[in-house]
Order: sequence, then C-alpha cells, then structure tokens
Amino acid sequence: MDGYTLTHKVPSRKDFIDTADFDQSEILDIITTSRTVREFIKSGEYLNSLFHKSLAMVFEQKSTRTRVSFEVAMEQLGGHALNLAPGAIQLGGHETIEDTAQVLGRMCDLVMSRVDRHESIEALAKYSRVPVINGMSDRVHPTQGIGDMITIFDYWPTGKEAKDIKVVFVGDATQVCNTLCEMTTKMGMNFVHYGPANHKITDEWLEIGRKNNEKYGGTCIWSEDPEVLKGADFIYTDVWYGLYDKETPKEVYMKDFYPKYQVNDELMAATGNPNCKFMHCLPANRNEEVTDSVLDGPNSVAFDEAENRLTAQRGLVLYFGRVAQATLDYIKQQKEGK
Ligand code: CP
Repeated sequence: MDGYTLTHKVPSRKDFIDTADFDQSEILDIITTSRTVREFIKSGEYLNSLFHKSLAMVFEQKSTRTRVSFEVAMEQLGGHALNLAPGAIQLGGHETIEDTAQVLGRMCDLVMSRVDRHESIEALAKYSRVPVINGMSDRVHPTQGIGDMITIFDYWPTGKEAKDIKVVFVGDATQVCNTLCEMTTKMGMNFVHYGPANHKITDEWLEIGRKNNEKYGGTCIWSEDPEVLKGADFIYTDVWYGLYDKETPKEVYMKDFYPKYQVNDELMAATGNPNCKFMHCLPANRNEEVTDSVLDGPNSVAFDEAENRLTAQRGLVLYFGRVAQATLDYIKQQKEGK
C-alpha cells in the first residue's frame, strides 16, 4: 500500500454506522486516507476538499472529543460543521428523527450523530439522503474504532505481524469494547475481553470476532483469568459506569470491578511486556478504572489516541464525502511537485 491508492474509490455503503459493515480492505482505505492527510496537514499544507460542504452534528449526549474533532476536521478541509447539541433543535421535542433526517439531508452534505439508541442512528441513515456517520450509539463507537486502529498502527510493536499482536480490553464490555473486538479481529489480531462475567462481551460480538478470525487470522476470547494479560501489546480500558448506565449506582459498579479490573502498575506489570501500551477512549474516571500512574505514565498513548480522533474524522468525512481518492491524488501531486 503506497498511501495514495485506495482499493475502494468510493464507499460500498452510503453510511458509516458500524465497522462490521465493511471489509478489511475498506477499513484500510479509511485508515490510509486518515494517515496520509494527517502527514500532509502536519507538514504545514492545507486542503480544500470539502469547500462549501456542511456537516450537521446531532448530539443526544455530551461530547468533547467527537464534537471537537469533527468540527476541526471540517474546518481544516475547507468545510463547515454545525453543532446541534441537545435542546438546540426540534429533535427530542415533537419532531421525529425521521423528519429531522429528511430536513438535514436536504440542507447539509453529511450528518454525524451521537444517539441514545442504536435504532436512532439507523433511522437517521434510512431517512437522510446524505451519508450519516455514527458518532456513538449504545451498541458501537465506530469513529473511535478508526482512531484506535490508527493509534495501534502508530505504535505497532517492532518486528511483529498482526497475528502476533495481542490487544486486551479490561473491564466493562462497553460499545468501545464491542468495536475494538470487531476492529482488531478484522485486522487479524488477537483480542481478549478480560472482565467479570456479569459485564462480559456478548456472545454475538465474540462470534463476530471469530468470524473475522476465520477470514483474517488471530483469536477472540473472553476471560476472567488474569493469565490472559500475559504477552499483551496493548491494554485498553473504558469507564465502569458511563453515558448508558446512569441508573446504576457507582457503588454497584465498584464492587463488580474494583480492585481486580483496575488498570494500575501491577496490572500493567502482569503483561510481562515492558513495552505494552495503555489505551483509553477517554473521558476517564481517574483512579477508578485506571490510575494516574498508568494514564500519565510513559506507556500511555491515550492522548495520542484522543488526537487520532481528529486524524480519523478527516479520513471519514473525506471518504464518505466521496472525495478521498481525489484528495490523495492531489496530495501525491503536491509532494511530487507537479
Ligand atoms: N471518546 C469519546 O467519544 O469522547 P467524547 O465523549 O468526549 O466525544
């Protein structure tokens, strides 16, 4: 792969709802676009690929990384993003998601939304005539998954192939865990969910991971046995109570996860790999699921990972805006001085 030539010149689907909807080569196209554009922009160049294009950002929940990264990505690519935060539009009042989707699709070129229920992002996609990107639902977090895979590529363990790489997600099987399972196995890596039985990744996702393994290699398991930490190249965690678990008291979660599943120096040492990297989608509840010593420690790549949300969003809006290949052609010409 030369960083400039995509296997899929245009997306196979209008919308980016779930990474599981795309095969490995198409996910690699999005990652390639993201990384090549990052290098170009970091070298001080600029792009106008989305000049006069608008992205509607519909949020049913709070967001820092998703909101800022999409808005900055659109601005850096010559376009514009509208932040439609909770309470800012008629959605949630008496206007339906279907009608909102139709209206946004007639005024904007792209829609990105963070929704309470996965069915809502599917409805937005169905009724919108323009591409819809899932900025997180209660099922998956696909834009996070692209940023995470870019981060894993950036910190690829020296001399290893995908089949030798082990990614362990520790703690609660959140939607970030589901997408990480899907993405790592799609890349032919070994995925482990290490967490308590009452918060384990569902059999549906383990099956999706295993189907990926059959096609691309690697393994996919859930375990409560700390032995699975051994040999990990990446330890990943997420909050123990998040946006979708507002009703559950914190004490209940703490009893389920603490201290066994807290990512601390002892847990990192249990990998036996001094180069094992620590990842977190953020925001973190510091000193609950991860200690300060790990999150701020030398092996943490969590803030590079946050920055890679921007890397990923540029690739996603270019790819689903159907200008990714043209953008890569332009970058190549500029680099060759043509
Ligand atoms: N990781 C993530 O989605 O962060 P935000 O909730 O701040 O967007």
